[in-house]
Amino acid sequence: MEKVKCAVVGVGIFGEIHVSAYKSYEKAELVKICDINEQRAKEISKKYNVEYTTDYKEIAQDKQIQVVSVATPDFAHKDIVVEMLKNGKDVLVEKPMATSISDAENMVEEAKRHNRILMTDFHNRFNPYIVQIKESFDRGEAGDISFMYARLSDRIDVPLKWFSWSGKSGPHWFLFPHIVDLVCWFAKSLPKKIFAVGKKGVLSSYGIDTYDSVTAILDFGKFYATVETSWVIPETWPAICDFYFKLEGSKGRLVVDFGEAITKISSDVKKELLFPFVIGDTPIENKPFGFAVLPIYHFVDCVILNKKPIVSPEDGLNNVRIIAKIVESIEKNKIVDF
Ligand SMILES: NC(=O)c1ccc[n+]([C@@H]2O[C@H](COP(=O)([O-])OP(=O)(O)OC[C@H]3O[C@@H](n4cnc5c(N)ncnc54)[C@H](O)[C@@H]3O)[C@@H](O)[C@H]2O)c1
Repeated sequence: MEKVKCAVVGVGIFGEIHVSAYKSYEKAELVKICDINEQRAKEISKKYNVEYTTDYKEIAQDKQIQVVSVATPDFAHKDIVVEMLKNGKDVLVEKPMATSISDAENMVEEAKRHNRILMTDFHNRFNPYIVQIKESFDRGEAGDISFMYARLSDRIDVPLKWFSWSGKSGPHWFLFPHIVDLVCWFAKSLPKKIFAVGKKGVLSSYGIDTYDSVTAILDFGKFYATVETSWVIPETWPAICDFYFKLEGSKGRLVVDFGEAITKISSDVKKELLFPFVIGDTPIENKPFGFAVLPIYHFVDCVILNKKPIVSPEDGLNNVRIIAKIVESIEKNKIVDF
């Protein structure tokens, strides 16, 4: 079987998922990983038995590598992605594609110029619970959309303990990409007007200058969607994230509720009730399973078959444009045209 030679740049929390996906997929061969943090690069190199470098340009210049995942912090994708595209690689970039419109436009232009495949990693299109209701929607079972509501929030330990770069991102850049993509995917169009509010205070009291929470109304013309995100759910909440989506239509109602998840573990030993988030990436017999790895397998398949991924470069770019407009609306405290 043909195997595609792959590499991962940025092997932190989520980059490791890319590493384990390439390692476990029979159509992929992981040849190198890269992280500027040498200690982390060494740790992943040892754990997955793969060569490492601390210089992404070494990956760009390695002619055998065809596919590169870029999983560096939200604001640090562009230079690496562009360098890979210029050197003939196909690139799977983590969401958000970028935290500025110019960075995202630059990446899409370079992908076109070099005729390369570029995909942003939007998980919901690979989430079986969501895919189920999307198929129902596409069969017309909910009728025409009246409105949609989507919420994706994290516990406060994500911005406080997971990252050193939380202040350069925020719930809007870190979490909105998933649900903004979700509502646009159902809408099959882009919003015409946007109004948003955001509040700061809790995270800034810890020295992290970003929004605690943001709510935005995306007006698509014939219908609208409300998207909501927060990075300040208390640490005592039993689930790491809170995810809810509903679509109210002229003929039906579609709901996916991950609020309390499906799996519950009550333990006198641990003295807590836990709602583990199992559908993202749960290894079974040492093979990763879930919607975190499926887009990575899909990307490899597209490269082998020279097929367009189900997420287009423009989907990634428009997602950044919408979030930038949400920020503009908060800052100007008015409705903005998209
Ligand atoms: N953590 C999650 O749940 C999650 C989920 C989905 C997507 N993502 C996305 O994945 C990306 C990475 O997030 P993360 O959670 O893994 O962050 P992280 O901070 O855990 O990892 C980022 C890694 O990139 C490395 N890095 C930074 N600059 C680099 C450079 N120039 N060259 C090489 N390595 C570099 C850092 O040293 C770090 O190890 C982000 O865009 C994030 O939004 C994260």
